[in-house]
Amino acid sequence: MSKSLNSNSMTHRPLVALLDGRDCSVEMPILKDVATVAFCDANSTSEIHEKVLNEAVGALMWHTIQLNRDDLAKFKSLRIIVRIGSGVDNIDVKSAAELGIAVCNVPGFGIEEVADTTLCLILNLYRRTYWLANALREGKKVPGPEQLREVATPCPRIRGDTLGLVGFGRIGTAVALRAQAFGFRVTFYDPYLPDGIEKSLGVERVYSMQDLLFQSDCISLHCSLNEHNRHLINEHTIRLMRPGAFLVNTARGALIDEQAVAKALKDERIRAAAFDVFESEPFSMANSPLKDCKNVIFTPHSAFYSDSSIRELREHAATEMRRAIVGKLPDALRSCVNADLLQQQQQQQQQSSHQLAAVTASSGNHARSVYPPPPGLHANPGGSLLNGPAAAAAYPFSSIPSLAPVSASISERDVLAAAAAAAAAAASGASNPIVSLPMSLPSVMSSISQQAAAAAAAAAAQPTMSDGHGATNDGTNH
Ligand SMILES: NC(=O)c1ccc[n+]([C@@H]2O[C@H](COP(=O)([O-])OP(=O)(O)OC[C@H]3O[C@@H](n4cnc5c(N)ncnc54)[C@H](O)[C@@H]3O)[C@@H](O)[C@H]2O)c1
Repeated sequence: MSKSLNSNSMTHRPLVALLDGRDCSVEMPILKDVATVAFCDANSTSEIHEKVLNEAVGALMWHTIQLNRDDLAKFKSLRIIVRIGSGVDNIDVKSAAELGIAVCNVPGFGIEEVADTTLCLILNLYRRTYWLANALREGKKVPGPEQLREVATPCPRIRGDTLGLVGFGRIGTAVALRAQAFGFRVTFYDPYLPDGIEKSLGVERVYSMQDLLFQSDCISLHCSLNEHNRHLINEHTIRLMRPGAFLVNTARGALIDEQAVAKALKDERIRAAAFDVFESEPFSMANSPLKDCKNVIFTPHSAFYSDSSIRELREHAATEMRRAIVGKLPDALRSCVNADLLQQQQQQQQQSSHQLAAVTASSGNHARSVYPPPPGLHANPGGSLLNGPAAAAAYPFSSIPSLAPVSASISERDVLAAAAAAAAAAASGASNPIVSLPMSLPSVMSSISQQAAAAAAAAAAQPTMSDGHGATNDGTNH
């Protein structure tokens, strides 16, 4: 059963909110004729203004805010969430379906960038470019091979080494193609893919994590984070890795138990590692268990980024939101990750409305996870690498820590800028349908100067519009 979000568009534009950002300059041209767009710049739903919680039918979001079931339930009108990115691990997708909310992502974005970054990190681990460059910057003299050995060792040759990929989706595949050119023997573990993919790409395949860890000189993570693989790399699995293997993670931070990995890096059980993603983001060196590990390269969740990819990503996300508004849900959507669950939910509702009690009670109607447990994971306790009490305790989805940043994002400077932009927009009588709401305002209002508060309040007195770059205020966010 498809429904439009825009059924009474003659009288009322649907409200779409960017939850964890401020800049709507790419989204605005795509959405402005069909929606009112607000930004919240929130780190959590407690910072989102009531107007958005009550009225927003669409939410755009980056990876810096977490939406669990309780968060989702706070939105009274929400019908669609579009993740500006590919991972949806910061959204409880199943609960969203149960609440009738479609969740979409942009699966194809930044694949080349993440694959290129991954190779860049792997090459740095093998060629030691990062450490050699730092040695020179720190004033070290490297006059000949003997001194070079000191700085460059250990420096294994790439050709013939085995690169083991965990997850062989879009990015894993792109990494494999690149790595082959450097002489790696590439193998992968991905329990969700049909047989034969390895043949078409000329790589090898293993059917257990155990085999992958045992065979690989360098392990690179490219699986999605889901309810079955949190802390996939843990104390137990590290023991199954080759001594002195390299580890790379450009997928998701929670795939790794950072405490266990830090210990293994200090012992050089893992020779060196490179991480673009972390259990807690934004990454803070001071608070990281990895802070004393000299043999790690850190990058700030930037693998996806290029001038082109970020623009494409935002355009694709906004276009999916537009499809949701002008078309029928969920049929009009191109990348709905919970379409099956939504459909089951709708069927259940229809059935219960027809009082088909016997049918609704059948177990087949329960919403299932987007990722079923990997074969053998639970069916054969003790037989799989990831079985056993430690693994069983490690994977409950609800325990995935928030990926939302902890730092406050609205400062006095932001508030003054917001107020100034709002006043300017009000004075110019601009009539752009983008309305930007600095929703975090109440939480910081007590700490800002009276001058800022007065300016913001003045701007709030009158609904104003913005060009999507600056912050403006429609009077509803205090
Ligand atoms: N660092 C960044 O900037 C950045 C950018 C984009 C994507 N990512 C992350 O990269 C990862 C890969 O993205 P993608 O676009 O290739 O996703 P994808 O959905 O195309 O591929 C993910 C693959 O992981 C497999 N998988 C799931 N659980 C697994 C498990 N337990 N063991 C082995 N394989 C498993 C799936 O079958 C799938 O083939 C995701 O975690 C994504 O969130 C990071």
